[in-house]
Amino acid sequence: MNNTQKTTIITGVGRGIGKALAQKFLNEGYVVIGTSQSGAVDFNHDNLKIVQLDLTSADSIKKCVADISSILKDSKIDIHINNAGALEDEDETRLIVQKLRDTLEVNLIGTADLTEQMIPQINKDGHIVSLSSQAGSIGDMDNIEDSHEPYHYPAYKISKAALNMYTRTLAARLHHEGDGIIVSSVHPGWVKTDMGGDEAPMLPEEAAGWIYKLAISRPETGQFWYKGEKYPW
Ligand SMILES: NC(=O)c1ccc[n+]([C@@H]2O[C@H](COP(=O)([O-])OP(=O)(O)OC[C@H]3O[C@@H](n4cnc5c(N)ncnc54)[C@H](OP(=O)(O)O)[C@@H]3O)[C@@H](O)[C@H]2O)c1
Repeated sequence: MNNTQKTTIITGVGRGIGKALAQKFLNEGYVVIGTSQSGAVDFNHDNLKIVQLDLTSADSIKKCVADISSILKDSKIDIHINNAGALEDEDETRLIVQKLRDTLEVNLIGTADLTEQMIPQINKDGHIVSLSSQAGSIGDMDNIEDSHEPYHYPAYKISKAALNMYTRTLAARLHHEGDGIIVSSVHPGWVKTDMGGDEAPMLPEEAAGWIYKLAISRPETGQFWYKGEKYPW
């Protein structure tokens, strides 16, 4: 790899916001190491490498980290984006425990496991950005923009609130250790993807545009962002 080029890891680049983010970073001259569950995606670029990752499997996460290390060789990552996420209980109003387990495996446990293993490979002026959601905001529960009630899809909401606490605790820990890595959560907006559905008002490219701007900047660490403004936890 060319050591002068900046590098980003983005999970889940095969579709949705992750694909738009990968294309934005590639257009801006970054090397993108992206993941997909199949190990393939439907677009190519000289600076795009794809690694297989299933966030529900500790073995897959370990293998993904090893694959990324061999791509990086002696270079490091500038931006690590936890984009991959699952909405298992979209049509539920009650908490289905198995769906809660499945959701937490992807949105919290697998995401945190991957992030922890990647930290040694992230530059000290790097940035870890996790795609959270307004759905995980306790402070904004009465202002759900897609007309869902506060009790809809509880497993997803719980997972994103927990992911936000991971952002907060990791940011505090890295700051305490004197590490310069910034850690952020973002709400991308209600976005037209497989998860967001056809009625969503925002295109993935728009969400990718402002998330890119935040990711390449050095905002206050341990905060939750939406379109460049702080969002309530
Ligand atoms: N769309 C919205 O309105 C909205 C709103 C708020 C927050 N978000 C958050 O934004 C992020 C991206 O959402 P999206 O709308 O682009 O979702 P999406 O279109 O449903 O895509 C989900 C992505 O997550 C990956 N993924 C799912 N399960 C995985 C697993 N077990 N292991 C590894 N990767 C897995 C998928 O990979 P494969 O393609 O390989 O299956 C895919 O790339 C998510 O974290 C989501 O919670 C979205």
